Amino acid sequence: MKTILISNRKGGSGKSTTAVNLAVEFSKKHSTLLIDFDTQGHASIGVGLSSVEENGSHSIFLNSTLSATFRPTICENLTLSPALEFFDVYEYSDISGILKNRFKKEKINDFFEYCIIDTAPTYDSLLKNALEVSDIVIIPVVPHYLGIVGVEQMFRAIYQMSLSVGKKPPKVFILPVMYNPHINEHKESLKKLIENFGEDKLFSPIGTDIHLATQFEYKTPSVLSNKRSKGSNDYKKFAQELLDKLKGS
Ligand SMILES: Nc1ncnc2c1ncn2[C@@H]1O[C@H](COP(=O)(O)OP(=O)(O)OP(=O)(O)O)[C@@H](O)[C@H]1O
Ligand SMILES: [Mg+2]
Repeated sequence: MKTILISNRKGGSGKSTTAVNLAVEFSKKHSTLLIDFDTQGHASIGVGLSSVEENGSHSIFLNSTLSATFRPTICENLTLSPALEFFDVYEYSDISGILKNRFKKEKINDFFEYCIIDTAPTYDSLLKNALEVSDIVIIPVVPHYLGIVGVEQMFRAIYQMSLSVGKKPPKVFILPVMYNPHINEHKESLKKLIENFGEDKLFSPIGTDIHLATQFEYKTPSVLSNKRSKGSNDYKKFAQELLDKLKGS
């Protein structure tokens, strides 16, 4: 199993939208687990469910198994571990290794080919737990000045956090999202991202597409309900590029 962490401390940068469409796209050919590790529960909503008040992903910090939190979704090969809505991460501010331990004890690797983890826009013990099990990190970023600053901060944060838990830092990639080629700042920021991090660190951008916003209201991911929309095509291309990178790694 390969585990993909979707993370950016910057809020509203397309993490949940990316996690949902990627998970659904992967599940068309591969058994996939989506862990919603953000108590906002937006990834859970994105696959037609919602956050829960018990037996959510965060219940592993309250002695639950991870498998006890699994729910089927609208996609046959996609399992969701939904967010636990009222989990207070600050009561567990110094905890690491719990998710890693669950993966090992429950042999999660044997049941899924891919695991995708959506995280909150925070730097906390949830991110640490997620990072410990991840092979690769995707940072979705809206291409503008503070977006670039945020990516630089994330690279440093992931490096620091990996060192603090004694893990080799995972490979980190950037996914430009909500990209509009008619906006000069977007074009310039994309160039800057390539200059600063190298072309091989960037995936093809996801354009701005209203279907990617309305999908949450309709509780059906865009790659399922609006198969031919620009946003869906962009996410399909991204999923393929990621699969190619994972095969090569
Ligand atoms: N490519 C896109 N085109 C248009 N709207 C988008 C696109 N990507 C995301 N959105 C919308 O932008 C908003 C933020 O996206 P999303 O919730 O995925 O970000 P996030 O990083 O998960 O946010 P948070 O930090 O709160 O978890 C949402 O309303 C979403 O529907
Ligand atoms: Mg989110």
